Amino acid sequence: MTTKNELSFLHRFVPASEPGRPPLLLLHGTGGNEDDLLPLGRMISPGSALVSPRGKVLEGGMPRFFRRLAEGVFDEEDVRLRANELADFIADLREVYELPAPIAVGFSNGANIAAAVLQLRPEALAGAALFRAMVPLKDAPSADLTSKPVLITSGTSDPIIPAENAKQLAAQLQADGAIVQHHMLPTGHGLSQADVTLAKAWIEKL
Ligand code: MLT
Repeated sequence: MTTKNELSFLHRFVPASEPGRPPLLLLHGTGGNEDDLLPLGRMISPGSALVSPRGKVLEGGMPRFFRRLAEGVFDEEDVRLRANELADFIADLREVYELPAPIAVGFSNGANIAAAVLQLRPEALAGAALFRAMVPLKDAPSADLTSKPVLITSGTSDPIIPAENAKQLAAQLQADGAIVQHHMLPTGHGLSQADVTLAKAWIEKL
């Protein structure tokens, strides 16, 4: 039996204040930390339990969830290793905090690792809200994502993520059986009020 101190990621845990709300796994972007997305989690699903780990990979001192070779060019061996490590952490935290499988809520690099977890360890997550996500693995294995809800929001003027790439991710997850909602928003890489509004409405219908 894993104990809280043995959990393998530095993280914040906020217990649920409303029973029945889905637990959220909050995954920050490059240079973020475990505090970043707590306000977002509270906004999109008030009363949910929140678990927010800090990425273990450092790029020039900035925490991330996997290594990249350049912007948008990923070290896919590391993506695989880190996605499995995160899925193991999820299994352990569920035991420690007595939670059902969480919904991942990821921004940018956090959204990309969440997409990789869906493709490599689908059992780890009940679904995912992916803000500014891109394809994490060129040759992802096909996963059984039957009926898993996935929300993807992309920015039409995002300088980091080409719209086509985000559409490809949506298509891959849909082909694996996920129920994908993909929204292209008139914005850039940063989060906007529209992301929050869409995610809140999406979670309420789960
Ligand atoms: C990534 O590295 O995951 C993406 O390029 C997004 C980012 O974190 O900048």
